[in-house]
Amino acid sequence: MDRLVISGGTRLRGTIKASGAKNAALPILASTILGAGECELSNVPRVVDVVTMIKLLNLLGCSISQEGDRVVAKCDQLRSSEAPYDLVRTMRASILVLGPLVARWGEATVSLPGGCAIGSRPVNFHLAGLAKLGAEVSIEHGYIRARASRLKGARIYCDVSTVTGTENLMMAACLADGVTVIENAAKEPEVGDLASFLVKRGARIEGAGTDVVTIEGVGQLHGADHEVIPDRIETGTYLVAGAMTRGDVCVESCRPDHLESLTLKLRACGVTVEEGKETLRVRCDQRPVATDIKTGAYPAFPTDMQAQMVALLAISRGTSVVTETIFEGRFMHIQELQRMGADIKIEGHHAVVTGCERLTGAPVMASDLRASAGLVLAGLAADGVTEVSRIYHLDRGYERLEEKLGALGGIIQRQKGSQSVKIA
Ligand code: EPU
Repeated sequence: MDRLVISGGTRLRGTIKASGAKNAALPILASTILGAGECELSNVPRVVDVVTMIKLLNLLGCSISQEGDRVVAKCDQLRSSEAPYDLVRTMRASILVLGPLVARWGEATVSLPGGCAIGSRPVNFHLAGLAKLGAEVSIEHGYIRARASRLKGARIYCDVSTVTGTENLMMAACLADGVTVIENAAKEPEVGDLASFLVKRGARIEGAGTDVVTIEGVGQLHGADHEVIPDRIETGTYLVAGAMTRGDVCVESCRPDHLESLTLKLRACGVTVEEGKETLRVRCDQRPVATDIKTGAYPAFPTDMQAQMVALLAISRGTSVVTETIFEGRFMHIQELQRMGADIKIEGHHAVVTGCERLTGAPVMASDLRASAGLVLAGLAADGVTEVSRIYHLDRGYERLEEKLGALGGIIQRQKGSQSVKIA
């Protein structure tokens, strides 16, 4: 299994470009099922989750070609309506084909994703919403089966705002008979990006990006071109890396307006943040100071940036309380950070982080995508060498991570399988 070997202590400096948002590209790709006609997508990140989604769409019968950051997708016929366990277990976002398959082809069989390293992650609101739209939904042998000759518009209220749940229902409602209203919808920018792509294809959607989304069903969707929004979590990860290494890092082609909760917290930590129209630059020449963080649905602080911020707070001056409200199991990085010398106590869904002067490099193990990112940042700021194993998690969501960090002056190498790398 590949690992990253990081020699810490270098100040990161320079400019890199943000990649397209994984969590926008995935639902947009899934939504190509909804209509015939060619869709040309640009700024699609070259990450393993996108490859998995393309594999799944190919299996279902869509024809997809990918060159660099461009993907051309066409879905004229269906070969299968089943998303098998082998694919879904490697990527939970495979659930995003459920709504489009039922809406366009009248049936879907999608493996239940099950639990994962960050929590139990049920899909009950996806299923209840589809049932409200008139689908017959059952669970058999570990698979969700949904059927409907034509979905019917309905009023759907989700107790908890769910990102992929909102996306699944919004996609399904595009081809339903009549009007659907999703209340307490997720407001994440990725939901808005999916909606703008669907509107370009002829869907009638209002309110995406707010907590009430109204969709008037149409008979069919046509092809369209679309540029995926920049990845706010990738951007945020590099900004925190700049701050933690007391560096000077600028991320271009990003969306500063999607990162306000992070930049607010970075400023509270004493980091200088400069905002341009499409750029964010951080500078930090002294030890950051402690600040409290509570994750929440957008526009609150993203759970996907929690691990990276815990790494920063672990070397800040003072004590911070980090409260995770979205996923109960999302503190797996903390035990690994403790092995690097971090002083962090977990109390329920709170982490009490008392900053230390410096972390020390150690072999650590990644448990999920963002936990891995937090460990990489810790390694960049630590004294000595850190080896992060199980980095297949990182490859799922960060495009050319070593190359980008290397361009900023980070000393980071990928070690293949059992091969050993010596870092001076
Ligand atoms: N929830 C339910 N029932 C449901 C759906 C969700 O109880 O039917 C709960 C979840 O257990 C959680 C909360 O609602 O407590 C919010 O979960 P949500 O459904 O919004 O998460 P998701 O759609 O599965 C997406 C991102 C995650 C990101 C979360 C939260 C994609 C493909 N994934 O997941 O991204 O952490 O929203 O913002 O968009 C990542 O990129 O590393 C990642 C995990």
